[in-house]
Amino acid sequence: MIAEIQIPPIMKIGGGSLFEVPAILARLNCARPLIVTDPFLATRGLAGTLEELIRKSGRACGVFSETVADPTSDVVEAGVRAFAGGNHDSLVSLGGGSPIDTAKAIGMLVANGGHPRDYKVPNAIPQAGPAHIAIPTTAGTGSEVTRFTVITDSAGGEKMLIAGSPLTASAAIVDYELTLSMPRRLTADTGTDSLTHAIEAYVSRRANPFTDRMALAAMKTIWTELPRAFHDAGNRAAREAMMLAATMAGIAFSNASVALVHGMSRPIGAFFHVPHGLSNAMLLPAVTEFSICAQEERYADCAHAMGIAAANDANQTACAKLVEALYRRNEELEVPSPKRFGIAEERYFEVIPVMAAQALASGSPQNNPRIPTAEEIAQLYRRVWA
Ligand SMILES: [Fe+2]
Repeated sequence: MIAEIQIPPIMKIGGGSLFEVPAILARLNCARPLIVTDPFLATRGLAGTLEELIRKSGRACGVFSETVADPTSDVVEAGVRAFAGGNHDSLVSLGGGSPIDTAKAIGMLVANGGHPRDYKVPNAIPQAGPAHIAIPTTAGTGSEVTRFTVITDSAGGEKMLIAGSPLTASAAIVDYELTLSMPRRLTADTGTDSLTHAIEAYVSRRANPFTDRMALAAMKTIWTELPRAFHDAGNRAAREAMMLAATMAGIAFSNASVALVHGMSRPIGAFFHVPHGLSNAMLLPAVTEFSICAQEERYADCAHAMGIAAANDANQTACAKLVEALYRRNEELEVPSPKRFGIAEERYFEVIPVMAAQALASGSPQNNPRIPTAEEIAQLYRRVWA
């Protein structure tokens, strides 16, 4: 088997790497970047620091700070207008997955025209967009290293998966110091998203030996370090380890794909505005339990890598311990069920068939070790409700 791996051509990893942005813009021949960020970061100073850094290097710089959680096609189109209106030649995204995903979609439309839904999986993206430097401030979605973006269609509300090499950023800046002020809930949710990336990449039907190593190393680190970062926000060592692991998990899933948890998670996010990492967390234990029978050995490997199972545990025992540990971890990280999150019960059960259909259509469940039917997905949605 020959594996093809795609990652950004330039990656800067380490505390203070934010200050490498001007040098990278010079390497990429970018003179007029547009910063893509969210209103929170725009008012909290970090976007201003980046803008000043770029301006001091003698470059014109604009800021588009209208990105929203669960980025929409309307916001992407507003970003395209800002890009064209300011005569920009490159993108610098700053924030969690949403600003980075927004910048990817802006670049895609700048190069190809049309609407984000024209490029929804399984459609292809013909041309790469302008140079894009991605700077995550969470650890994280891994979007800085992936060839995916997730955009909500403003007409209809579907959370669309868009995939293709043209979405890979030109450079990723992985600076853990940007995550030091992340609040507890965001730390837990984005960290669990990373853990889900690592586990799903490892059990994916499209896994390969390269992504396996990335995934195992990432899940081992995340399992130990996430509770430390959650309980002790200022723990720099935990933050640094989490940041690197989130990027490694991103590399793993970008090249091996995610699976059923992500397939089911997107519709929950689209219908009920549950943050992405949190809807993953709501699903991860039950979906793992459902999937184990088709790939006991790989799930047992996860349990061993994460230090959950003893070296001499049989696969079945290791898998049982994994499921139990995932449920316990959700309690520790205060993950609510959909019901306790406050979702209206009648509406949740009413849309289950639509969520199941959207999950299947995204293609992710087909990478799962156990490929579910629509009815099995519906059963899992019912199972995690309370
Ligand atoms: Fe994710």
